[in-house]
Amino acid sequence: MKLLEERINTDGNVLNENVLKVDSFLNHQIDPQLMNEIGKEFSRLFQKDSITKIVTIESSGIAPAVMTGLHMNVPVVFARKRKSATLIDDLLTAKVHSFTKNETHDLSISKQYITENDRVLIIDDFLANGQASLALVKMAEQANAVVTGIGIVIEKSFQPGADLLKQEGYRVESLARISSLSNGEVKFLNQEAEELIK
Ligand code: G4P
Repeated sequence: MKLLEERINTDGNVLNENVLKVDSFLNHQIDPQLMNEIGKEFSRLFQKDSITKIVTIESSGIAPAVMTGLHMNVPVVFARKRKSATLIDDLLTAKVHSFTKNETHDLSISKQYITENDRVLIIDDFLANGQASLALVKMAEQANAVVTGIGIVIEKSFQPGADLLKQEGYRVESLARISSLSNGEVKFLNQEAEELIK
């Protein structure tokens, strides 16, 4: 998605060769216009899948997920990372370890919100090692729902997540695919292909 790549180029900060900071439009301050375009694009990509529910994980997945839900006209559920006072019984659960942040969370979603009749689209902001997406897949499958695909805003293609999810048989659509963050520079997969052609 050209608009997203341009935004990453202008506003993204390469923290090191593994981490891209995008706090000004995705992870802290949120650009609603950009999120709207992202939601529109996911909706277009998955329009034939008869999706009934979008599933994401708090907190940064929520904005792109809500915009996708708006364009697809389906509800959005987010997995909670912290125990909720009101979310106690009948839970779908999974553990997720973030290699990027070195944290482990117990995720939960009320069984009320994903059922065997659902066709689920998973949306998340970043794909690195694939653990967050896999945990969401596991929870949807605990409910006997069908996972029709995974939509990612920014994929770090040099990390193993995308390949892992595809090997597991899931369709992954990423709006920006980063092939490298070396030397303080963002390189996109399509840009690499263009440079090879030159
Ligand atoms: P995985 O889910 O693909 O396995 O990735 P990993 O565990 O390595 O990373 C999980 C957390 O780190 C997620 O945030 C994810 O958004 C974030 N993350 C991973 N790589 C990057 C990166 O290059 N830049 C930024 N900005 N974030 C990255 P989270 O813990 O769920 O936090 P949040 O959703 O509350 O922001």
